[in-house]
Amino acid sequence: MKKIFLVLIVTFNYMYTINAQNPDFLFMVEQAIKAPSGHNTQPWLFKINDSSIELHPNPDKSLPVVDFDNRELFVSLGCATENLCIAASYKGYKTDVSINEEGTITIKLLQTGSATPDPLSEQIAVRQTNRSIYNGNIIPGDSIRILKAIPVNPGIEIHFYESGTAEFDTIPAFIYKGNRIQMGDEAFQKELRNWMRYNKKHQDETNDGLSYAVFGAPNLPKFIVKPIMAKAISEKSQNNGDRKKLKSASHLVLFTTKNNTVEDWINLGRSLERILLKSTEMGIAHSYFNQPNEIRELAEQMAESLNISGEYPTILIRLGYGEKMPYSKRKDAGEVIIN
Ligand SMILES: Cc1cc2nc3c(=O)[nH]c(=O)nc-3n(C[C@H](O)[C@H](O)[C@H](O)COP(=O)(O)O)c2cc1C
Repeated sequence: MKKIFLVLIVTFNYMYTINAQNPDFLFMVEQAIKAPSGHNTQPWLFKINDSSIELHPNPDKSLPVVDFDNRELFVSLGCATENLCIAASYKGYKTDVSINEEGTITIKLLQTGSATPDPLSEQIAVRQTNRSIYNGNIIPGDSIRILKAIPVNPGIEIHFYESGTAEFDTIPAFIYKGNRIQMGDEAFQKELRNWMRYNKKHQDETNDGLSYAVFGAPNLPKFIVKPIMAKAISEKSQNNGDRKKLKSASHLVLFTTKNNTVEDWINLGRSLERILLKSTEMGIAHSYFNQPNEIRELAEQMAESLNISGEYPTILIRLGYGEKMPYSKRKDAGEVIIN
């Protein structure tokens, strides 16, 4: 009885917290959490104030092996920030973003009749990481020019490499080397397995992580799926899959920073999200090949081979045309709002 009473109080308190928020601000947080994040850890916490929203990194969601300096964590926070700003414009708010030394992001929100709603707001719920094999068609030059014309945040460079060019052909060797290093590392494998969600029940229990469904796997009992997925975490199987994915892609796009700072990483995430949303609007699919960036010696060597020494390769994606895949899950906004 005491337990039921306690649950009721907690539930009532949770509902009150949510209901007490400005519904526009709640909407913005709901859009922000649709952003991509490494292993779908959703490493963010939101604090709603009277005229601003703060975005804090959640240290419990870090990935100490694959992302030892939290670089990808802050890129993910940048993606969420961009979604939040786009959603704010949709609701008629102007935004002003600042970042402090701890990497807390504050988005000041000013309601004004003159804020122009960003048409990309419609793409926030449509965007998805699509790891399928694409159809091999090349994205027309006009579409690439539109993507290249998107304003980029300070400190960030974006390089587009079309399939068949010497630069495009330089990159796969670094992806395969990355697979060899990561797949040979038991700590990397263990961390990855921790974020695998093996079937619908498992996925629905956590609403985070890498779901069986987004890899095109069937919904079967865990004791059947787990060994199959474990087998897929190997250099050979990863390389085979990546070879097909690369062959089917139209472009590789490499995002780099000038100074490799927390501010750069957040800014990179913002620019990345804009490109992802715009390409989604144009019917272009994307997925990541981030292995070479995660191993710093490889990233340096790749930059040298691409004649961009001095820049820090941070995110590598492929673009192309592919069939829609199932969506990955998100935790409820209420679970990532703090007081
Ligand atoms: C910084 C960052 C790094 C990522 N790295 C990889 C990667 O190396 N391989 C991969 O398959 N997906 C990668 N992802 C994609 C995430 O796994 C994906 O965003 C997450 O599972 C949520 O799925 P969604 O993007 O479809 O919403 C990355 C995403 C971010 C933001």
